[in-house]
Order: sequence, then structure tokens, then C-alpha cells
Amino acid sequence: MTKAEIKQKIEKLSKIIDEHNHHYYVHDNPLISDLEFDKLLEELLNLEKENPELILPTSPSQRVGGAITKEFRTVKHKYPMLSLSNSYSKDDMIDFNRRVKDGLHLENDLFASSEIEYVCELKFDGLSIGLTYENGILSQAITRGDGVQGDDVTNNAKTIKSIPLQLKGKYPALFEIRGEIYMPKKVFEQLNKEREDIGEVPLANPRNTASGTMKMQDSSVVASRKLDCFLYALLGDDTPHKGHYENLMEAKSWGFKISEHTKLCKGINSVIEYIDYWDKMRVDLPFEIDGIVIKVNDYKKQLQLGFTAKSPRWAIAYKFKAEQVCTKLLDITYQVGRTGAVTPVANLEPVQLGGTVVKRASLHNADIIEKLDVRINDYVFVEKGGEIIPKIVSVNLEKRDAKNSKVLYAFECPECKTKLIRKESEAQHYCPNENFCPPQVKGKMEHFVSRKAMNIDSLGGETINQLYEAGLLKNIADIYELKKEQLLPLERMAEKSAQNLIEGVEKSKTVPFERVLFAIGIRHVGETSAKKIARKVKSIETLLSLNKEELVNIDEVGETIAESILKHFANPENLEIVQKLKQAGLQFSLSEEAMAETGDKLKGLTFVISGVFTKYNRDQLKEMIEHNGGKNSGSISGKTSYLLAGDNMGPEKLKKAEKLNVKIISEEDFEKMLEE
Ligand code: IVH
Repeated sequence: MTKAEIKQKIEKLSKIIDEHNHHYYVHDNPLISDLEFDKLLEELLNLEKENPELILPTSPSQRVGGAITKEFRTVKHKYPMLSLSNSYSKDDMIDFNRRVKDGLHLENDLFASSEIEYVCELKFDGLSIGLTYENGILSQAITRGDGVQGDDVTNNAKTIKSIPLQLKGKYPALFEIRGEIYMPKKVFEQLNKEREDIGEVPLANPRNTASGTMKMQDSSVVASRKLDCFLYALLGDDTPHKGHYENLMEAKSWGFKISEHTKLCKGINSVIEYIDYWDKMRVDLPFEIDGIVIKVNDYKKQLQLGFTAKSPRWAIAYKFKAEQVCTKLLDITYQVGRTGAVTPVANLEPVQLGGTVVKRASLHNADIIEKLDVRINDYVFVEKGGEIIPKIVSVNLEKRDAKNSKVLYAFECPECKTKLIRKESEAQHYCPNENFCPPQVKGKMEHFVSRKAMNIDSLGGETINQLYEAGLLKNIADIYELKKEQLLPLERMAEKSAQNLIEGVEKSKTVPFERVLFAIGIRHVGETSAKKIARKVKSIETLLSLNKEELVNIDEVGETIAESILKHFANPENLEIVQKLKQAGLQFSLSEEAMAETGDKLKGLTFVISGVFTKYNRDQLKEMIEHNGGKNSGSISGKTSYLLAGDNMGPEKLKKAEKLNVKIISEEDFEKMLEE
């Protein structure tokens, strides 16, 4: 191919890939399979690698991130980013309608002809962003900042797949579009689950997580966080229509993600109906909203109404009520987790809230206590936001007793009295006594025996506690020293359960290396990274011999994980535990079988597993797919290659697979695929 031909090919591929990204991420409706998509992307990446000078600034390859922003540049907004005034009731809405009509010198009657056209939108709970497009190309993404100037987060915004890098159709040469970057509920839950697996403190809510993610320096981490973005305002000198709603619909055709729930409503009664509907239905949305935004549609009317110092007179936010109660803060106690992270907990005078009695609320960390300036014996306002644990939102200062003094944050571990530490970049305090602090030791054991780790289900949390208190378990290696005679004298330990426990422990010796690596509880090493590491290093000896650089070279291992591995094994106590576990007969190298299994027979294929199987359980099937380079997915889409179907599969799944022409295979077909 000549350079010109390559250039043409790169442009064509970029366009096709963009189109497929759009169908997948904006319309949630993929047109091709994962395999086909990956092939296109791989072709483009190869051409770009060989011809770096031809990489387009809008290339879909930018989506994977990689660009590092050491310091975010501060940029002045062309149009100030104002906020909205809030309202909380129907009366507030009726007042707003009256103010709008007064401002427009309209009679406040309820004749349809004088009713205002409002656009009702969901109030997405994330962080606002202003995107500038020059000749159809995304040139800048700026956060709200203080409203006058914000941070340039363009590199990070480019990784959000629903934000178009290149527009289609007929768009103005220069304009800004504003919207909200958010983290879908499912993505947030998954992220927290992964954090839990590696003993990290869970993140508080999707909004702060989205906001924190956009401030990360490494855009490839941002890419992995699967943020999304709805757009809700078009700004510029030559926007195509005279109404906000019409402009949003036009912007949709250029490739932007505009919520399908945005609605044009005539008159305030219709607005109130919209509010009532979403107050009930918001729990079912896949993302969080904290209210509704109501905007006068007609730009001429918006202009006539103008702005106050802080917000437009032509728009208002209706905030959903989160039920709030006032109660007394009795005490703050501190919980120590498996990794030593300390979480302060507020103990409250019991109070009814949203149908349950609330006695405790999380205070997250020392910064939050400081910010709230909450003191023991204060009366505090407690709120339950949607599905999240109750939180203290503020202090009722009117009821504060002058005797209440500032909280002195715990300086020593409540469990083992070791001095707490706090790293500069972290909000959490830690107890560093990882191998002897009781909740850390017990937590590590619980993790060790858990299903995804050693899967010793005959040894539950209560038994661990009992054995720990009896001095029989001091660390995970002691589990393999347990004798039946030692167990029998324990309370509630019958012959049968003692026997089961010993057998369960024995059986765990066949658990493969990758799960043993996950089980020993190296901070930050989750299920997936343990798998990748095990397959790469093949034995613990090799792992112990690697330096940081070599560790970082392993897929899924970044600086944090590498440092954590080195730190873990730099501790002689941890090395001794590994030594003992090895002597006990645990798998510390990849079995012949696993090595033979590791391959790429299923590379590029995505499987959905459904139903009940005879030879393998679902986890085993999933593992086999991954071992052979395939991907697992929970739901059927155009990207699914095969539906691996067992008995009693749901009819909906079957229907969808048939509709999308996804091949349906049995357990036996699957085995044959691996044998071939
Ligand atoms: S319009 C001049 N529309 O809520 C008004 N804002 O206080 C510009 N938000 O900072 C905002 N969903 O981050 C608008 N559909 C929506 C919104 C929305 C969420 C956020 C936005 C803004 C805050 C308003």
C-alpha cells in the first residue's frame, strides 16, 4: 500500500470503528460481534503502529488512554458555568412558574395558550463537563471548577466511549456542549466488589468516584473505570434551533448521548407529573439522579428572563427529598478491616428512618469528621440516600452543648493498640500490625477460606473466631496444622463438623496456584491479577525473584500492585507463612494440566453461560473459557459469540440469542471446541 492508501485505510477504519462504538455505547445496541470489532481495532492499531505519523487526533485508539496529565491546566470558561437554584416541593414549582410568567409579562391564568413550554430533564448525579468542538472535533473538555474557570481534562474525557471525538452530520463550526459525567450504578458496584476482594475500603458513592476518576493522571485508568456522559445544554453563536429541546435532539444526531427521558412539557402541571413519575421510578434507573431539572424551552424567553448572580431565572432544579432525621451522636468507634484500614463509625441514639431503625452511620475517615465538625453528644442530621448506608449530613448547631469538644481521632488501633499510620495521599488511617492485629488476622483467614480463594466452606467466620480465641489459629498456615482431637473439645463442635472441617482443609490442597496466590491476601492483588500473575510466573519462586520493573511487565500489574507484592514478601513473617503452606502441600506452581490448558483457542470469543450443566459448574466453565483466552459476559448482545446453554435456561435469553443470531452450544459442543 502507498502512504496515501494507508492514510485512506486508517481514515476509513476509524470511521467504521467510531460508528460501532456509537451503536454500542450511545444506543446500547451493538451491530457486530466482539470478535469482529476487535479485529477492526487490531487492524487499525497495527496500521497506526507502523505509521505513527498518520494517527488521527480523533482515532478511536485514543479511547484506551495512556496519556498522562501531570498537572491539569486551568482554563477560563467561555460561558460561565452557573448552577441552578433548588426547589423541593410542588409549591416551589408553582412559584417558579409564576415568576417565569411574571418575567415574561404573561397572565398567570391556566389557559393552554399562555402555558409555558418547559423541558424536563433528569438531574444526573455526577460532575459537570463542558466539551468544545471545533469543526466537529473534540478540542477541549473542562470541568466546572469554580464556575469561572475549570480544569482541562481533555485526555481523560477522550477515554469515555459515549463522548464523540469526531461528529457526524451538519454541526456548527464552533460550539460548546455541556453535560454530566457519571458512573453507572453497576460499574460502581463492580468496582467496589473488586475493592472488597482485595481488602480495600469501599468507595462512598458513584458521584465522588466519577469525580475522583476524572482527576486521575493516568488516562488508561480512567478508561478502565467505564464512565459515561449525558449531554444537556448546547451553547454557541449559531446553534441550529430556537428552542433548547430541538437543539438537544439535533445534537443527538451529531453523535451525542442525550437522555431518552428528556421531555417537552406544556404547563407546570405536566412538569409536576414528570417529577412525580421519576420520584417513584428513579430507583430503577441504571444511574443515580438527585432530582429533575426544568428549563424554559424557548431561547428568546430565556434571554428575556435572564440570570441572577448565581443562576438562570429560566431554569430550576427540583431536588428529591432524602428522608432526614435528627438524633444524638453517642459515640464514635473504630472498625479495623482485613487490610488494617480503620473506619470510624458513628453510634447513634436509635431512630426511625425510611422504615428501619438506624443505630449506626459510617463516618468514612478523619477528613469527613473534620469537615462536618461533628462532636460526641451533638445532635446530627442523618440521611438515607437511596440504597446506600445512612450517613451524617450535618450537625444541628442550635442544639450543641458548649461542653462538646472536637473529636480527637484515634491514634492507636482499638484492637491491638499499635500506633496508626496514615499515608499522605490516603484518606484512611491504617493499623500496620498486619500479622498480629486480631481483626486483620481473622479477616485474612476469612478471605483465605472464601469461595473464590481456597473454598473451605466447612470453616466459617464463627469457627475461625472460635479457633482464634482458643489459640489454635494464629495465621493462615495454622489452618493446615489443625487436628481433629484439638477441635472436638470446642463448643458446638460435633464429631461430624470436626471431620468435615479436616476434610475440607485437606481438599483445599488441590486448589490451583492462581487461587492460592489470591488467597494469601496480598493487598491490591485481586482475583484477576492473581490469575494473570500465576500464569505468567508459573511458580512462587519465580514471583519472588522478580523486581519491580519485571512485575510491572505482567499484564494487569501496575505500580501499585508491584509495590504491594514486593512489600508483602519483604516481610519475613509472610515468607514464613508461604514456606509453611508449601510444606503443607498447597499448590505454589502451575500444574501441568493448567499449563497445557493455557492457550488461545478461544481468543476473541465472548461466551454467555446460562442454565444448569451436568459435567461442570458455571464457575468451572468460566474458568475454562478464560484459561483458553476467551471472555465471559453476563448478558447477550451483538458482541456475544456463543451462548453456552445448559438445562432450564431462561426463555428470555434464548429469545434474545435467536434474535441476534448468536450460536447456541451445549456443554459437549464446548468440550469439542477445546479438544479441536
Ligand atoms: S443545566 C445553567 N441540566 O446540576 C444551568 N444541570 O446545579 C446549567 N446537572 O452543575 C445546568 N443534570 O452539574 C443541567 N439535566 C441537567 C443536569 C444538570 C445534572 C448538574 C450540573 C449542574 C448542577 C446544577
